[in-house]
Amino acid sequence: MEDVIVVTGPTRLSGQVDVAGAKNSVLKLMAAVLLAEGRSTITNVPNIQDVWIMAELLRRLGCGVEYDVEQAAVHIDVPSAPAHQADYDLVRAMRASISVLGPLVARCRQAEVALPGGDAIGSRGLDMHRSGLELMGAQIVIDHGYLVAKAPGGLKAAHHRLSFPSVGATENLMMAATLAEGVTTIDNAAREPEISDIARLLVAMGARIEGIGSPTLVITGVERLQPVAHRTVPDRIVAGTWAFAAAITGGRVDIRHADPSHLGVVLDKLEQAGCTVERRADGFVVEGSGRPSPINVSTLPYPGFPTDLQPFVVALNAVATGNGMVTENVFEARWGFTNELARLGAIVRLDGHHALIKGVPQLSGAPVEANDIRAGAALVIAGLVADGMTEVRGVDHIDRGYENFDAKLRALGAVVDRRGNEADPLAKARLLR
Ligand code: UD1
Repeated sequence: MEDVIVVTGPTRLSGQVDVAGAKNSVLKLMAAVLLAEGRSTITNVPNIQDVWIMAELLRRLGCGVEYDVEQAAVHIDVPSAPAHQADYDLVRAMRASISVLGPLVARCRQAEVALPGGDAIGSRGLDMHRSGLELMGAQIVIDHGYLVAKAPGGLKAAHHRLSFPSVGATENLMMAATLAEGVTTIDNAAREPEISDIARLLVAMGARIEGIGSPTLVITGVERLQPVAHRTVPDRIVAGTWAFAAAITGGRVDIRHADPSHLGVVLDKLEQAGCTVERRADGFVVEGSGRPSPINVSTLPYPGFPTDLQPFVVALNAVATGNGMVTENVFEARWGFTNELARLGAIVRLDGHHALIKGVPQLSGAPVEANDIRAGAALVIAGLVADGMTEVRGVDHIDRGYENFDAKLRALGAVVDRRGNEADPLAKARLLR
């Protein structure tokens, strides 16, 4: 039965919270170790649904996977000849499953990866993944819902010029290039901190990569890579979530084990919203004061403002002292949750890529439903400043990216409860259908 998170507001958050490793890094780190036979270990692994899905995917590829939740470590034993099919049920549950494509083609010279299909936050094409691997000599066809790639003679180096700095395409091509013959260049590469983290893991495995953190990656193929032990970079999106939670509630949250240098523009914007931000070596403190000032934000590839924090900006502007404008440049269909926010009394006017938000003094609690990870977390956080009870459904989305979200909120003083949704007769009817 699907759970609901029930928040009773208004409330002000106060206290400390620890941030684990980045979801958007760890999933790819787990895929990258497929490039070498043997036992690799990844630490600082968050205990979230998506990690369990990736563990299952690797098991189906023939790997031994031990997930030590206590130690936040995953040990992966990669066989000499892994299987090379990523099944539809897993790719459908988690789109990041497609990050096994590059490693599998490079290592096994073939891969069959189910196409992810529709997604709640936009079309999210795979054209750059596909054309990039084709440029490296792979033959690719779509067959019965699978992207089938073959490179019988092995991959060859290529010069990629990405038309947009896609995170997923940069990662897949970078991983594939580590074992390709010759020197591969990726121009207009994405440079999110998670990509640098993956590059560092690859270098520790024996890969030759220059330009890490820059828009041009140069990768010299090597014959084989070795297993590795690697610590995952902190999750800047989770850290940013807590920062917005502090700002929206006018609270004070000490966010530990995070890297403030990965949130440059985000923390600047929070200061513009009226917060005090204290940057430290291993984290930062965000303190709000009363209602925030509105902020204007345009999402962009890193180091621009991350699209994954956009829903929190909308939530902040919803209770700000004026009008704020938010422009979404990365995912065109990421506005779905604004209709849910409107159920809490937010005033949001959409026009294409733009949302104009008119701040109101107080939201009012209501039942709402999340349709993606960040929208879910943003609705819960909006519930913190809504009067009365906000019931958030679609909690499974939140579980995909946040460990113990409701427990961490409680530790910061929020009145939050997580309940099984057994009382809902419609949910029961859906299950019986
Ligand atoms: C990753 C993150 C996601 C984040 C996003 C942008 C993971 C698991 N997910 O997603 O949380 O919001 O980066 O920072 O790491 N595109 C194409 N063709 C392609 C590839 C991408 O058109 O071949 C488009 C997409 O439709 C989208 C945009 O490019 O509009 C950005 O996509 P991309 O950067 O690839 O994001 P993801 O890797 O899917």
